[in-house]
Amino acid sequence: MNNELDTLLKFLRFPSVSTDPSRKDDVRNCGQWLCDLLQEGGMQAQLVETSTEGHPAVIAKGPQKENRPTVLIYGHYDVQPEDPLDLWESPPFEPTVKNDVIYARGATDNKGQLMAHALGALSLLEKEGDLPVNLTFLFEGEEEIGSPNLEPLLKSHREELDCDIIAVSDTGMVAPGVGTFTYGLRGIACLEFSITGPSGDLHSGIWGGSVANPASALASLIASLHDENGKVAIDGFYEGVSELEDWERAAWKKLPSDEAESLAITGASELVGESEYSDLERRWARPTAEVNGMGSGYQGEGSKTIIPSTATAKLSFRLVPGQDPQKILELSEAHLKKHLPAGVSMQITPGHCGSAYLTDPQNPAGMAAQRALQKTFPQSKNIALIREGGSIPIIQSFKDVLGVDTLLLGLALPDCEIHAPNENFPVANFQAGIELHRNLLEELSSLT
Ligand code: BES
Ligand code: ZN
Repeated sequence: MNNELDTLLKFLRFPSVSTDPSRKDDVRNCGQWLCDLLQEGGMQAQLVETSTEGHPAVIAKGPQKENRPTVLIYGHYDVQPEDPLDLWESPPFEPTVKNDVIYARGATDNKGQLMAHALGALSLLEKEGDLPVNLTFLFEGEEEIGSPNLEPLLKSHREELDCDIIAVSDTGMVAPGVGTFTYGLRGIACLEFSITGPSGDLHSGIWGGSVANPASALASLIASLHDENGKVAIDGFYEGVSELEDWERAAWKKLPSDEAESLAITGASELVGESEYSDLERRWARPTAEVNGMGSGYQGEGSKTIIPSTATAKLSFRLVPGQDPQKILELSEAHLKKHLPAGVSMQITPGHCGSAYLTDPQNPAGMAAQRALQKTFPQSKNIALIREGGSIPIIQSFKDVLGVDTLLLGLALPDCEIHAPNENFPVANFQAGIELHRNLLEELSSLT
């Protein structure tokens, strides 16, 4: 384990923040390091360029033989920015192991989970000189910025990436030791808008009352996104939304997750939202509108009496099967334009999009994945069958371009703090992950 842990810690030292142009070389160096690791482990690995501004992907293949299934394993080696830095208890890119938990940006999302896949396969390869399946790794460096170049790469490397089934560990498990199979993800659509009022900041005493305030306009637009019952108030937003099925509602009620746990993890004082749905239902199977950031006016100490000249906001919508991300962007633009108060102008910039994903957990590959989970986590009475609220847009593209389903076997715990300060991954989950992926390849080898 020490060697395996050391390998993960090395991986975590690269500040591979894909959204930050000043880290472009760090992202590439991280990809190259991963590529070298797989090559040295006996795979045929290459760093594949995506676009001139983009970050490279890693494609690696194990021994190829006829008459056995081809399994593609996807992960991402890029990470979210580390800020706010002052809330970290240890430096985000100097991985620290405390009480058998690894603290670092990317520890869970997704370097720890990716490395569990990689080392599971490499350990089998080292021991047996072969793998039970034809294995392809596809690791990208752009997931956290919406995978802008991955779908084109799937198309340009279609043959090389041809496979029977895909497996990914980039989701959660419901509780420690409970094997968890995710059969659905929400989709996403992002946009930014900026409001402009007066040509420069104005004295709010001289002009207040006569000149529209962009910060107030922004606040009223944001308030218009929801009605008093917690529903998204954009016309047509719920059109086509698939309702969750009865078996899912029943199964989720039995999970070891409750509202008290959500309150404890988030620190929220109460849970809000659509009253006819439970906490899990709202987060896994219902669409939402979220404000991710807002800015306007004076943020320094004390007061400054101005009417700010501009205000900006970043929004994202989480989507469910039946919703088209592009259509949602069009509907939200129309909504914002319709509700724009007088006296200001607005510019809307659409952002990245990704469709929701839903598959049948009981199909043959899903059952093989559940067997691998059961073997790895023998103490789980049942494998938890869940959907997740987060998004991995490429999963639906795999279905559209390669025509293949994805098995989502997550290892993140609810308190792993992904995207937040003090992101962490228990060594036990890393260890179990390595075993899980050995078991998974063995189970998938009997798929016809
Ligand atoms: N690993 C997450 C997705 C995730 C998180 C799935 C939690 C299930 C549960 C992934 O790295 C991620 O953060 N995705 C982004 C999507 C994106 C387009 C930036 C997300 O969900 O915000
Ligand atoms: Zn993420």
